[in-house]
Amino acid sequence: MVEEALSYLLTRPDGLYLDATVGLGGHAEAILRRLPGCRLIGVDKDPMALEFAQERLRPYMNRLTLIRSSYADLPQLLEPQGAGPVSGVLADLGVSSLQLDAPERGFSFQQAGPLDMRMDPSSPLTAADIVNHWSERELADLLRRADEPRAHKIARAIVRSRPVRDTAHLAAIVTGTRKAKGRQKLHPATRTFLALRIAVNREEEELEQFLLRVPVILHPGGRAVVISFHSLEDRQVKHAFRREAAAGRLRILTKKVVRPSDEEVAANPRARSARLRAAERLEEE
Ligand SMILES: C[S@@+](CC[C@H](N)C(=O)[O-])C[C@H]1O[C@@H](n2cnc3c(N)ncnc32)[C@H](O)[C@@H]1O
Repeated sequence: MVEEALSYLLTRPDGLYLDATVGLGGHAEAILRRLPGCRLIGVDKDPMALEFAQERLRPYMNRLTLIRSSYADLPQLLEPQGAGPVSGVLADLGVSSLQLDAPERGFSFQQAGPLDMRMDPSSPLTAADIVNHWSERELADLLRRADEPRAHKIARAIVRSRPVRDTAHLAAIVTGTRKAKGRQKLHPATRTFLALRIAVNREEEELEQFLLRVPVILHPGGRAVVISFHSLEDRQVKHAFRREAAAGRLRILTKKVVRPSDEEVAANPRARSARLRAAERLEEE
């Protein structure tokens, strides 16, 4: 959804933009290429993503600053840059293919790897801590929050199978709780892995912090674009934008959530669950 994102995000050709989830630098590169007079700050909490982005964005280094931080730390993370309000902020939430495709990061149930799932490898909690030490009840609550309908069954199976050794072991435990019924649209472990990733990375809390700061970091007329990949995140974004609109701080630009086109999904199946929402900072009263 790069084109849609840019069409909402970019207003001032010489503006300062913030990519709060720079990841592999795809959106950042598109912004820098589209607006040769703009400056960009790229943020990510994953040092490996930043290394990758730095290499990819080398031709734009005179207009680009990369910062290792969480977007929850806005606006303070902008202070050392002497950066004032920005013309646009983009958050493309979730994991990158760099993270998902590296078995040693532990995000994928497709390949065996350690139960890690930390985007920031210096953060204290891993998926192994949760699956091997949380109570059955805590596990069931966690799974329920990610809309897993068999939360209780899976939580019980995990506790009975301890110690859970790795991602493949966990995927097998979850799959074993389900009676095989024809072809399923989702892998049976999808929501379990999602729930763990959300908890390990404190995704709900950090997104809430970010959404609270959006009106603070934008100048009037500045735009926020958020792309989410599951309904929990999208609900959070929708409610935050509505709350800020009711308070007179933001105007919602996407009356209905924007979904990728069929062609985009055909070209990139991982985009199928993407949902985009955009809003604009209003003038102070
Ligand atoms: C879907 S990827 C972004 C891909 C990027 N837009 C691109 O075009 O390559 C999401 C990125 O957000 C980062 N991320 C997730 N939560 C974050 C947070 N709280 N603060 C900063 N970065 C975060 C992840 O490490 C990951 O690199």
